[in-house]
Amino acid sequence: MARRYQVVQLVIALLLAVGLQTTMAQVPQHNPAMLPSQRGLAHLLFTSRISALNPQVSVACFTDYIAHSNAISEAYGQDYKGCLLEASEERKHIDESSAVERREIVDASEAVCASLRACNKLNTTLELFNCHTKIGTENTKSSYSLSGNASEFATILQERYRLIDLHHQQCGQRAERRYVTDTAGNYNYLQGCLDGRLQPRLHLTTPSTVAATSSTTTTTTEAPPPPSSTTTPTPPPTVVYDELTTTQQTQNIQDQVAQILNLLN
Ligand SMILES: *[C@@H]1O[C@H](CO)[C@@H](O)[C@H](O)[C@H]1NC(C)=O
Ligand SMILES: *[C@@H]1O[C@H](CO)[C@@H](O)[C@H](O)[C@H]1NC(C)=O
Repeated sequence: MARRYQVVQLVIALLLAVGLQTTMAQVPQHNPAMLPSQRGLAHLLFTSRISALNPQVSVACFTDYIAHSNAISEAYGQDYKGCLLEASEERKHIDESSAVERREIVDASEAVCASLRACNKLNTTLELFNCHTKIGTENTKSSYSLSGNASEFATILQERYRLIDLHHQQCGQRAERRYVTDTAGNYNYLQGCLDGRLQPRLHLTTPSTVAATSSTTTTTTEAPPPPSSTTTPTPPPTVVYDELTTTQQTQNIQDQVAQILNLLN
């Protein structure tokens, strides 16, 4: 129990240290079900054999996991930004490439407006009425043609925008798949590392062979040692109570770790 409490303190100090340095990276908005929950991670840490046997190794596993987790989120953010940029470039290109059609429609509509304005400039009212009577019939034809042409162009452009949206969606899904795959792999690594099947990819400055007690003293600058009550022998009746509170504390700390992990993601 005492050792587990030390582990907990170590880990919290570590998570806080890592967490403070972490930039809030973008992650997929809906967390797919196959990704580990933060609660699950915290639970994994507290139930792993390595955590109990060798706190330093489990901390190394976790440091490594968090570093990779951050890199994965960072990569996802970059991918996502790339998708947005690509789509915005393609949209810009649509406007550039349809400049001729746009000019055609604008010119045709301005010709209609100019002919109407010309009638309004006539001196006598009768002339003005007659002008609009004549021009209106002609304008009806050109307005109809203009509307038909504009509608045709619009259909083509809508299709192109639809394709861009589709590409953007596919781009986002690729980024998300990569995030999910990498995160799942990272989680598998963490499980393997905590199970002792895999070596931590990062190495601590102090050799991992150093006893757990000395390792805790090296980290006491960040994590204060557990209360001295752990060294005092406890009489049988209070053991149950002590274990209860320790379990409760561990649960609280698990919750805190889960919260810190939530901040990281
Ligand atoms: C327009 O009307 C004015 C008076 O309101 C007159 O002086 C002028 O000669 C007219 N011009 C034309 C082109 O009919
Ligand atoms: C509409 O398109 C046709 C065929 O491209 C063209 O001949 C006509 O001038 C256009 N009409 C307008 C109002 O631009």
